[in-house]
Amino acid sequence: MPLTGAQSILKKLLPGKIFRFVYNLASGCYVLWVKTLDELYYFFAHIYYLLANDRERLAKIKRIKKIRKYSMVGRTGLFRTHDIAAAMEKEKVDGCFVECGVARGGCSALMAMVAVDHDSNRKLWLFDSFEGLSEPTAEDEYQESLRYKPGNRSSDLVAPGYCLGTYEEVESLLFSNLGLSRDNIALVKGWFQDTLPEFRRKTGPIAVLRIDGDWYESTRCCLENLYDNVVSGGSVIIDDYESYVGAKKATDEFIESRSIKTELSFDGRGGCYFTKP
Ligand SMILES: C[S@@+](CC[C@H](N)C(=O)[O-])C[C@H]1O[C@@H](n2cnc3c(N)ncnc32)[C@H](O)[C@@H]1O
Repeated sequence: MPLTGAQSILKKLLPGKIFRFVYNLASGCYVLWVKTLDELYYFFAHIYYLLANDRERLAKIKRIKKIRKYSMVGRTGLFRTHDIAAAMEKEKVDGCFVECGVARGGCSALMAMVAVDHDSNRKLWLFDSFEGLSEPTAEDEYQESLRYKPGNRSSDLVAPGYCLGTYEEVESLLFSNLGLSRDNIALVKGWFQDTLPEFRRKTGPIAVLRIDGDWYESTRCCLENLYDNVVSGGSVIIDDYESYVGAKKATDEFIESRSIKTELSFDGRGGCYFTKP
């Protein structure tokens, strides 16, 4: 999270250690508050849709509840991903679902569940280093203050190796916990720069391209390699568009260089999405 105005002022006024303490305390309280609100939301939404006999929304809540602890994208991001995947199913848009930046697999699992529940036999391609984030580059205007250091527990710290999910953990979520079929899901381990140039031929048409690699190079690489496979009417989600300058820069540059005439929509928590014309 970039420093907000209040944080910048406090940072100037307070000695380093005290600022760090206040910052960590405030971050901890904020995370607790969001988690509590989420729990309340899911609880009441479940009851409400049950009583209203709204099967579609109830199914959505149930799917999201199953995977939410395996995702970092939060309630709004999960809802948006769900709705975009479900819209592709309803409109019968051709192509597979792709996630670049899987981590512990929450969003990927959600898209897979949507496909299965619509009996679509749609294929899911999942790409990740399974080693966590790579080094940011100058384009990311990375702040040293965000670099992880032992003992520094702020949940907002990002650094190489952060956002780690393992291949085994994701396999276990998809195939053991959720009982999804291995036939329709391909998990590809490796850096995007190494895997995507080869796999762009294998994925074929794409209905949803979900990009969640945080940095400039990761976002750029995904767009350059996979955008051409996205079908007209398909969706592109850039999870970090408003959160990280590098992700925004890579997206804006790509849209401009290809003269893509589309409107970006925002999910209100840092992500954006658009439809391929
Ligand atoms: C923010 S996490 C993804 C969160 C996930 N979508 C979720 O639902 O929680 C970012 C992921 O991108 C992966 N990643 C970032 N850059 C990458 C690259 N260049 N190649 C492969 N994986 C990358 C990291 O390993 C990490 O798992």
